[in-house]
Amino acid sequence: MAATDLERISNAEPEPRSLSLGGHVGFDSLPDQLVSKSVSQGFSFNILCVGETGIGKSTLMNTLFNTTFETEEASHHEECVRLRPQTYDLQESNVHLKLTIVDAVGFGDQINKDDSYRPIVDYIDAQFENYLQEELKIRRSLFDYHDTRIHVCLYFITPTGHSLKSLDLVTMKKLDSKVNIIPIIAKADTISKSELHKFKIKIMGELVSNGVQIYQFPTDDEAVAEINTVMNAHLPFAVVGSTEEVKVGNKLVRARQYPWGVVQVENENHCDFVKLREMLIRVNMEDLREQTHSRHYELYRRCKLEEMGFQDSDGDSQPFSLQETYEAKRKEFLSELQRKEEEMRQMFVNKVKETELELKEKERELHEKFEHLKRIHQEEKRKVEEKRRELEEETNAFNCRKAAMEALQSQALHATSQQPLRKDKDKKKF
Ligand code: GTP
Ligand code: MG
Repeated sequence: MAATDLERISNAEPEPRSLSLGGHVGFDSLPDQLVSKSVSQGFSFNILCVGETGIGKSTLMNTLFNTTFETEEASHHEECVRLRPQTYDLQESNVHLKLTIVDAVGFGDQINKDDSYRPIVDYIDAQFENYLQEELKIRRSLFDYHDTRIHVCLYFITPTGHSLKSLDLVTMKKLDSKVNIIPIIAKADTISKSELHKFKIKIMGELVSNGVQIYQFPTDDEAVAEINTVMNAHLPFAVVGSTEEVKVGNKLVRARQYPWGVVQVENENHCDFVKLREMLIRVNMEDLREQTHSRHYELYRRCKLEEMGFQDSDGDSQPFSLQETYEAKRKEFLSELQRKEEEMRQMFVNKVKETELELKEKERELHEKFEHLKRIHQEEKRKVEEKRRELEEETNAFNCRKAAMEALQSQALHATSQQPLRKDKDKKKF
């Protein structure tokens, strides 16, 4: 036997021994303690309604909880889908429920519907992230934390088409790993009984062939296994919503009244409203809350922690240590920081070198220009000097010629002034 196998056997916990009690001790009250603690703490439940504008989301919520929530009609001109959460405190007997209804306002109204699912996915992730941040806090207060994680997404399908629209398929596919989806056919009073049957089969077929995972009512708890199995076969529920009360026989019932008759919301022959209320509120509300925590949130948390570098140990490696993971991550971060710093320093040095070279080149060009100008200047100067010399020579020559001329002129003048005198002398001789 290998050493590691031996170690594992010796580290294995011993099986606990079964003992019988001699009399009543009292820990059989634990479930009751749990119930009373939960009741005093109160519950939270968060529903996300996704469906086209005006499909009957608000009416159905009012009908389901038998109250009037604040609603605002959405316009058909929203630029993008936006999520609008509203929280209410409800009380039934001594049970308090903090109910949040989140409306996907403007869903299906944009011309380009490519990214219609994105704000919904982001909203769901943001609620998971808030919860994770609370969990990771040193001083966490999960006990009184307002849990806003979405427990169920009611996806409203339009009753007027032949099957699901691609927007429905894409959106449900993007949401199915993040939230429990219950698809419902809205305004089911606008579709005939035989058409509704075919429509339901078509929708389920499309969901299966496109690999969309919708919420299945759990069948592992014996108490509800039978009803949940039956109800799973009725999906998607075809519902009618109304808060209007109409007199049928001698009873006031919630219904929609038409010239040809009355559609009763709570009549199972008319629609699946009662089935939806039964499954969503009366039987599976706690399972929806639990599935959100143990499946969807767990998946988000695992991916997020793995992204942050945390990993569980596999069989052979060392057990997971938060301290070691933190140290490893810190080292990784510091070396990354150093690498970035070095990269930036190198970049700076290169930049300085480049600028230095550019400056040197500019200096050389300037120097060359200066030398060139200097040469031109000297040449000009030499030419000017030569010209000056030539001019001087010319001036000198001119002055010489001028002096000679003046000398000649004065000689000639002298000569002309002597001539009459000689004539007089000559006359005297004769
Ligand atoms: P926005 O919040 O504006 O997107 O609308 P919504 O989806 O909340 O729809 P709302 O509940 O305001 O209903 C819109 C219209 O549809 C109203 O005139 C309702 O009376 C009507 N309506 C609601 N439910 C049903 C239904 O089950 N059947 C029929 N035929 N009409 C319904
Ligand atoms: Mg509404």
